[in-house]
Amino acid sequence: MKVLVTGSNGLLGSFLVNELTNYGHHVIATGKGSSRLQTNTAPGILVYRELDITDAIWVEEVICSTRPEVIIHAAALTQADYCETNMAECWDVNVTATRFIIEAARKVSAFLIYVSTDFIFDGKNGPYIETDPPAPVNYYGCSKMVAEKSVMESGLSWSIARTVLVYGNSPSVARSNIITWAAEKLQKGERIRVVSEQHRTPTFTGDLAKGIRMIAEKKAPGIFHLSGKDFMTPYDMAIATAEYLQLDKNLIEKVDAAVFSQPATRPLKTGFIIDKARKVLGYEPISFSEGLNQVLK
Ligand SMILES: NC(=O)c1ccc[n+]([C@@H]2O[C@H](COP(=O)([O-])OP(=O)(O)OC[C@H]3O[C@@H](n4cnc5c(N)ncnc54)[C@H](OP(=O)(O)O)[C@@H]3O)[C@@H](O)[C@H]2O)c1
Repeated sequence: MKVLVTGSNGLLGSFLVNELTNYGHHVIATGKGSSRLQTNTAPGILVYRELDITDAIWVEEVICSTRPEVIIHAAALTQADYCETNMAECWDVNVTATRFIIEAARKVSAFLIYVSTDFIFDGKNGPYIETDPPAPVNYYGCSKMVAEKSVMESGLSWSIARTVLVYGNSPSVARSNIITWAAEKLQKGERIRVVSEQHRTPTFTGDLAKGIRMIAEKKAPGIFHLSGKDFMTPYDMAIATAEYLQLDKNLIEKVDAAVFSQPATRPLKTGFIIDKARKVLGYEPISFSEGLNQVLK
């Protein structure tokens, strides 16, 4: 199967490229600027094309010249605080560019998989199932919800893969995550303050990439919640990290998110119920403690 991935220099994108090529799929990896992918893929199975998705002509040229059977749209502006303070740019990348991809996908009759987020929910009643009503509490969540709606109304064959707090290590992505951040600080003996009133089902990137590959192979239509299976707070995650590395848990202070005065409000209790993905796709994520082992080994 020929699959085009947007945002392939990102955390999820880099895992997706490896997952798809490992399963013998031909991948057109696209990203803003030159490739930062690090793979040992056999030549012929992977090509990289530079693509800024906010340029409609460029999007059409890359998609129409490569004619993928499936498009996985993972590129986005993903930092909620940045989106809150740069709304026009957030709209361009997350909403308008998604519409460019829909238009181009229509021209080649591709199956479109849109990657979305738990931040489309207000966090009052998590964990959520696929049919729960969206009600975002910040601009990033709003942009992703509007893009989802464009996908649903596109007339294409589509799937939406929503996920939650993604963690993992990729040689292509320098960004830290809660596990590596907590580990680094605690190893230096530094005190850390970690939010204890938000609940999530943190997702190992490898699991998410696998779930999306399963959607692509089955061309499974509709919305899928793909996350980890453990319902935890960031504080729980930091404690689990300290326990795994046998570091001093007393350095971890429980706080409410309000102490950080971030521009974007965070939904309180999200997380996903993943029964549909288990049943339809055979999706089965690893536990958070296994995820710790993957990230810290
Ligand atoms: N990370 C999470 O916790 C999380 C949770 C829920 C949902 N998601 C969703 O999962 C998807 C993947 O996120 P991620 O964690 O892999 O984020 P990421 O590492 O920030 O990757 C996003 C990628 O999008 C690219 N991008 C941004 N603007 C672009 C443009 N104009 N043209 C082309 N590419 C552009 C970025 O390029 P540069 O690297 O060059 O900037 C980056 O590589 C997103 O749709 C996100 O909304 C993520």
